[in-house]
Amino acid sequence: MTKIRIAIQKSGRLNEDSLQILKDCGISIDNGKDQLKASSRNFPMEVFYLRNGDIPQYLRDGVVDVAIIGENVLIEKGADISIAEKLGFSKCKVSLAVPKSVKYKSVQDFEGKRIATSYPNTVTNYLKEKGVNAELHIINGSVEIAPNIGLADAICDIVSSGSTLFKNNLKEVEVMLTSEAVLAVSPKITEERKAILKRLQFRIQSVLRARK
Ligand code: PRP
Ligand code: MG
Repeated sequence: MTKIRIAIQKSGRLNEDSLQILKDCGISIDNGKDQLKASSRNFPMEVFYLRNGDIPQYLRDGVVDVAIIGENVLIEKGADISIAEKLGFSKCKVSLAVPKSVKYKSVQDFEGKRIATSYPNTVTNYLKEKGVNAELHIINGSVEIAPNIGLADAICDIVSSGSTLFKNNLKEVEVMLTSEAVLAVSPKITEERKAILKRLQFRIQSVLRARK
């Protein structure tokens, strides 16, 4: 029997809410926590637990058919991949922040500055549009530490509650984009699996309506 292959975040912010929405859709998944792949007992679905940043490439290659992923990751790494549904959870911003002590006036202040980030494409596009040239330092995590250790003058990262910025004595000065979890679709999905996707979307839509 054909199954739809869905990628969800292996661990991290989206993992729990992603599993919850599938559950609310009446889809039961046999979950051995350490297993990277699981199947549903009552819906033609296979679940792959993957690293966030790898998901856009898996979608592009057609290794998975759909994914629950942050829009921010798609914008950064998968601008070519289409979104079937916005899912209303894991809302966040991708923002630029500077040390609290800095007197910030405008985005022009980033001219010639060093920015630490895990979102190089997003920052590059944003600053290019504003005509600002900055130097990027690409790091994969704990970005907010960079100004404190002298690695950068500013950072660009996800802001959710704002507590990571606060704890590191930073302030948000530009919001580049807002994001939430979405259902993204592989450009290579087959017609047969598209039919399963339709059934999934139908269920997701009624769950989202009920949550309102
Ligand atoms: C994420 C993100 C920010 C923080 C934002 O980091 O990179 O640092 O959460 O959330 P907040 O505004 O609610 O504090 P995460 O904790 O996932 O760790 P990482 O950056 O090391 O991956
Ligand atoms: Mg972080």
